Amino acid sequence: MIHLVIAGPPGSGKGTQAQLIAEKYGLTHISTGAVLRDAINKGSVLGRLAKTKIEHGEFVSDDVAKRIIEEFLQENQEAKGFIFDGYPRTIVQAQMYDEMINSLNANLSGFILLDVDKNIIIERLLARAKVSKRADDADLGVIMHRIEIYNQRTLPLIEYYDKKDVLYKISGNETIEVVFTKICDVIDKIIN
Ligand code: AP5
Repeated sequence: MIHLVIAGPPGSGKGTQAQLIAEKYGLTHISTGAVLRDAINKGSVLGRLAKTKIEHGEFVSDDVAKRIIEEFLQENQEAKGFIFDGYPRTIVQAQMYDEMINSLNANLSGFILLDVDKNIIIERLLARAKVSKRADDADLGVIMHRIEIYNQRTLPLIEYYDKKDVLYKISGNETIEVVFTKICDVIDKIIN
């Protein structure tokens, strides 16, 4: 069974590309960010835990993220494979994720990292802020904080996954189509 992760800074295109990957390769997709936004909209316990964190551009706790993934894996036992979008995003989450999938006799096949210039990220998120209702896109200060948290807490995963030989770094600065073609080249190599 194939397990892929797509990572990158806010606005790098993780969600956009994960949907295209899921469709093309028949993988089941989860975005932890989307799960959390949905919980906030529903006003559930999870949503109440996540609301302030997300609005301030902070991560939710590693345990909260783990619970989301455990439930998702439990509910999707028949899946052909998975694309995880925005999880794991800390070293502790990566260790927890290893344990979870190893207990299913699976291993991570690829950690696809989208590398995007800061000015492009800011441009994309401010453009989306005009049409989306995402509180974390509306304020330049929060966008800058999200980038800072990503640099502090997620960038260390590069070394972690490089050592495991599953790191694939791709420039995400180009158009959606060009980036997708590069990602497909990587996935085709992984699965063949
Ligand atoms: P999440 O929803 O994952 O937000 P994010 O990481 O900030 O990423 P975005 O959704 O903003 O961007 P993206 O990289 O998915 O890009 P997208 O395709 O949307 O998480 C939200 C929050 O939840 C986090 O800040 C955190 O608080 C919490 N959270 C989530 N997971 C967590 C975890 N594991 N642990 C702890 N906390 C967690 O594209 C962005 C825009 O650009 C779109 O408008 C799109 O149309 C456009 N676009 C995309 N690609 C291109 C392109 N190539 N060219 C031009 N435009 C493009």
